[in-house]
Amino acid sequence: MKDFVYFAPTEVVFGKKSEEQMASLVKKYGGHKVLVHYGGGSAKRSGLLDKTIGLLNGSGIQTVLLGGVVPNPRLSLVREGIDLCKREGVDFILSVGGGSVIDSAKAIAYGVRYDGDVWDLFIGKGECYECLPMGCVLTIPAAGSEMSSGTVITNEDGNLKRDYGNEYCRQKFAIMNPERTFTLPAYQTAAGVTDMIMHTMERYFSHDDDMTLTDAVAEALMRTMMDEVFNVLKDPSDYRARAQIMWGGTLAHNDITGCGTTSDWATHQLEHELSGMFDVTHGAGLAAIWPSWARYVYKENVSRFVRFAVNVMGVTNDFTDPEGTALRGIEAMERFYHAIGMPVSIKELIGREISDEEIEELALKCSWFGKSTQGRFKVLSQADMAAIYRMAR
Ligand code: NZQ
Ligand code: ZN
Repeated sequence: MKDFVYFAPTEVVFGKKSEEQMASLVKKYGGHKVLVHYGGGSAKRSGLLDKTIGLLNGSGIQTVLLGGVVPNPRLSLVREGIDLCKREGVDFILSVGGGSVIDSAKAIAYGVRYDGDVWDLFIGKGECYECLPMGCVLTIPAAGSEMSSGTVITNEDGNLKRDYGNEYCRQKFAIMNPERTFTLPAYQTAAGVTDMIMHTMERYFSHDDDMTLTDAVAEALMRTMMDEVFNVLKDPSDYRARAQIMWGGTLAHNDITGCGTTSDWATHQLEHELSGMFDVTHGAGLAAIWPSWARYVYKENVSRFVRFAVNVMGVTNDFTDPEGTALRGIEAMERFYHAIGMPVSIKELIGREISDEEIEELALKCSWFGKSTQGRFKVLSQADMAAIYRMAR
């Protein structure tokens, strides 16, 4: 097993009525004047936003509101949030929502403390070693931002979606009540499960073969998510299944499945360009690109793909034909994506074939304008990226 550091400092408060504890948690972590950050309407419709304001104000905590975060959160709202927090003297940010709201909050929290343009952090022009403290009330299991060190923001100027990874933005606490996810539309539920399985696969497809325990955890996580998603699609109010999925989304991205492995992350970067250009749902974009990535790279380590096919996808191992077994695992994954309503090509994702010019632009952006490779299972050049987009078109 490779050496590693495991750091997951977020206090998780999980279960029914867990949101009742939000005021005491905010106080515990030093919040007096809180920016309550939320999205486009689900938190209002469910009554969770009013409840949040009532609980905080009722405990003597002042609140400042900023809603309107959209999926693939935008830099312009982040800038507005930074100005608002500075003007109002906000000392804590509470997100009520999913990955987009939490990421927007993280970027605001950095921006308040960063002496420069916050976008610098996302394009490798700067580093920030502090930010406002934050907590969240999670309403959709998917991105895993509630325990991750990542922050993903889209700059409307050029439609660039970029990730900034740094430990300082870890949430002080994450409140997770599975009942709050009953209202999720089927598409968002399926895209969320696709994202969490992908977070596990990014860590699983590695050349490090001596990580037995980490592999076993990853495989159990993927199999469980693939079983339980059908239960919640059948019955959106199935608390037991929703709870498995909610905890799975967190475990998939708090790095517990990355201990001792070399992660890949090429599929994520390939997808971020699709989200940036076409404003698609992140999880759906991953499903559209992964089968092509997998077919492009599987020969780098066929036995890893065989293990995935057999242990995760339930494919029978044909010992005389490892490549055939590996490919049947990828096909089985495509059938799973289709079964939960996810696309397996860009055409299925956006409703049309992308042009050669769009493929070249995606590959250019994905390679950071020719300056960077992507992935570690197979190190992808800009030409490789274009080839994968072409396969996925
Ligand atoms: O805006 P509202 O009205 O709240 O609607 C949201 C949104 O339309 C809706 N929703 C959320 N909770 C709901 C609900 N609808 C009904 N009932 C509820 N309980 O769901 C839609 C999607 O929400 P969003 O926050 O965008 O979803 P997700 O958690 O998948 O976040 C996606 C973003 O996270 C980034 C993605 O790239 C994308 O921008 N990621 C962040 C990561 C990180 N910070 O570590 C890692 C991931 O790989 C990912 O890149
Ligand atoms: Zn993701």
